[in-house]
Amino acid sequence: MFKKVNILDEKDKHLRMKSKEVIFPLSDEEKELIKRSIDHLRYSQIESYSKKYNLRPGMGLAFPQLGINKRVIIIVHEFEEGKFHNYVFVNPKIVSYSSEMIAAEAGEGCLSVNRDVEGHVPRYARVTVSGFDENGNPIKVRAREDLSIAFQHEIDHLEGILFYDRINKNHRFFTENEIRLI
Ligand code: NI
Repeated sequence: MFKKVNILDEKDKHLRMKSKEVIFPLSDEEKELIKRSIDHLRYSQIESYSKKYNLRPGMGLAFPQLGINKRVIIIVHEFEEGKFHNYVFVNPKIVSYSSEMIAAEAGEGCLSVNRDVEGHVPRYARVTVSGFDENGNPIKVRAREDLSIAFQHEIDHLEGILFYDRINKNHRFFTENEIRLI
């Protein structure tokens, strides 16, 4: 039985706190929350379900958005039409990144930000992220393009940073000459 997760709004203080490193093992409640987050994110990206359950589409969540200031992120990436890959990273760290920068042309969204914020968010085009899976096994991924943006966005949540903090208020939009827009 699908049960959506309760996502906090940007006004909640949890969104602005720095999250703590996870000490393994995760509790059963935390594992359950990860499962439910995966279902929520996947359903939110499938139109029939997003309508049925009234879900705003999103590809990532971080634990602080659920009221838990621990370093866990969940990304459900549609890598091909209708095909999804789940990334659960505990204590994630960006261990290397490209010099090339990109930005999502349409701007970024966040399931905790229930309003439109216009502007380009500069991000690394590619990042390598290391961390642990939910059982404490070391994992690593090399992410590019929209997946790279998603990792940077979610890891920012663990520091209490929201995407619009990174929009230059004096220069909200870049041109193709300044940054590669995707
Ligand atoms: Ni977000």
